[in-house]
Amino acid sequence: MEDIYISGTGVWTPPHKISNDELVESFNKYVDLFNAENADQIENGSIIPLEHSSSEFIVKASGIKSRYVIEKDSLLNPQRMKPLIKARTDDELSFSAEVCVKAAKQALKDANLNAADIDCVIVSAANLQRAYPAVAIEVQNELGIEGFAYDMMVGCSASTFGISNAYAEIKAGKSSKILVISPEITSGHNNFKNRDGHFIFGDVCTAVVIEKASKAENKFKIIDTKLKTSFSNNIRNNFGYMNTIEDKDYSESEQLFFQNGRRVFKEVMPFVSSLILDQLNEQNLSPQDIERYWLHQANINMNAYVIKKLLGDDFASDRAPIVLDEYANTSSAGSIIAFHKYNQLEEGQKGIICSFGAGYSICSILLEKA
Ligand SMILES: CC(C)(COP(=O)(O)OP(=O)(O)OC[C@H]1O[C@@H](n2cnc3c(N)ncnc32)[C@H](O)[C@@H]1OP(=O)(O)O)[C@@H](O)C(=O)NCCC(=O)NCCS
Repeated sequence: MEDIYISGTGVWTPPHKISNDELVESFNKYVDLFNAENADQIENGSIIPLEHSSSEFIVKASGIKSRYVIEKDSLLNPQRMKPLIKARTDDELSFSAEVCVKAAKQALKDANLNAADIDCVIVSAANLQRAYPAVAIEVQNELGIEGFAYDMMVGCSASTFGISNAYAEIKAGKSSKILVISPEITSGHNNFKNRDGHFIFGDVCTAVVIEKASKAENKFKIIDTKLKTSFSNNIRNNFGYMNTIEDKDYSESEQLFFQNGRRVFKEVMPFVSSLILDQLNEQNLSPQDIERYWLHQANINMNAYVIKKLLGDDFASDRAPIVLDEYANTSSAGSIIAFHKYNQLEEGQKGIICSFGAGYSICSILLEKA
C-alpha cells in the first residue's frame, strides 16, 4: 500500500489576545456587580455570593497564561461577558467557514499544493456553527474543490479523529488528498461567568493536509492511528436542536460548556497513557523511541502526568511541547498547534499526536518523519 502522509499544517490565530490579569479583572468586576445587585438575597441567604477569580490560581491549576479570542471588548465587558460578532446573512460566507479557509490556505501552501489538488474536505470540531448545510461543503465551495466534504464532531478529539478518518478514506481509495480543518471557536460555548472555567478556553482554527504521493519537503508518514471512546458526563454541552421542543426553558448557562474538572483529570489520565503504551507495544516500540509527543493542550499538569508515565522524570522538555500557556485549551486544535509549531525532526524520527477529552474520546496518531 502507498504511504500516507501529513504533509502540511496551518493555524489561524485570532487577532485579540487576553492575559489572565485582564480576564480576571473583568470577571471580578462582574462578581462585584452581581453581588451588589443581589445584596438583599445574599443577606437573607437565598443567594450565595460569587467569589473573585485569581491569575495565580489559573496558572497553578492549569498552566494557562493567555488566550486568543475572536472579539475582546464585549467579552471583557462585565455587563456582557461574552464576545459579540455580527450576524451574517445566508448568502455571506459563515464565520466558521471564513476562518477554515484562512487556516486551509496556510496548510495548502505548507504542503506545496493548490486547492484544486484536494478532493475531500473534512471539518471536524467540538462545536459546529450549524447543523447543515455542512461547513465543510461551504469551505469546499469557497476554495473551488471538486469531490466531497463533510462535518464531524468528536469533542476534544475532533481533529485527530478527522485525521484518522482522512487516513481511512485514502486507504480505502475514495480520496487522495484531504484537508482536515478544525475551527475551534470555543468562546461561543464557554461560560465566562463561571469562576471554575472562565479561564479555560481560547479560539483558533487549525488545518492539516493528509495525502498519498506527497511531494512536500517536510512530511510525516502516518504509521498508525488508535482511537478509544468511553462515555462520560463529566464534560458536557447540552445545547442542541431538541432544546426548543423539550418541556424546559434552558437558561443560557445550561446551554454552555460545563465540566467536573477534577474527575476528568483523574479518569482521563490513565486512559491516555495506557492507550499510547498499547499502541507502542503493538508497533514494537517503546516510549523512548518517540522523539516528540504533541499532546492535547488542556492542562499543563495533565501533560506532565502523561509524559512522566511514558518517559519517567528525565527527559528534555522539548519532547512534549506546550502551547496552552499562550493559547489556553483550544479543544481539538491544541495538539495540532503544538505539531504545527514544533515539528522539526530528523528523517526516521517518530512522534505522536494525541488528543483526549470530551466523550471521553482519545486518539493517538503515530508518525515518522519522511
Ligand atoms: C479545571 C481545572 C483547571 C481546575 O483545577 P482544580 O485544581 O481541579 O481546581 P478545583 O476546581 O478543584 O478548585 C480548587 C480550589 O480552587 C478554587 N477555585 C476554583 N476556580 C478558581 C478561580 N478561578 N480562582 C481562584 N480560585 C478558584 C476552588 O474554589 C477550590 O477551592 P477550595 O479548595 O477552597 O474548595 C482542572 O480540574 C482541569 O484542568 N481539569 C481537566 C479539565 C480538562 O482537561 N477538561 C477538558 C475540557 S475540553
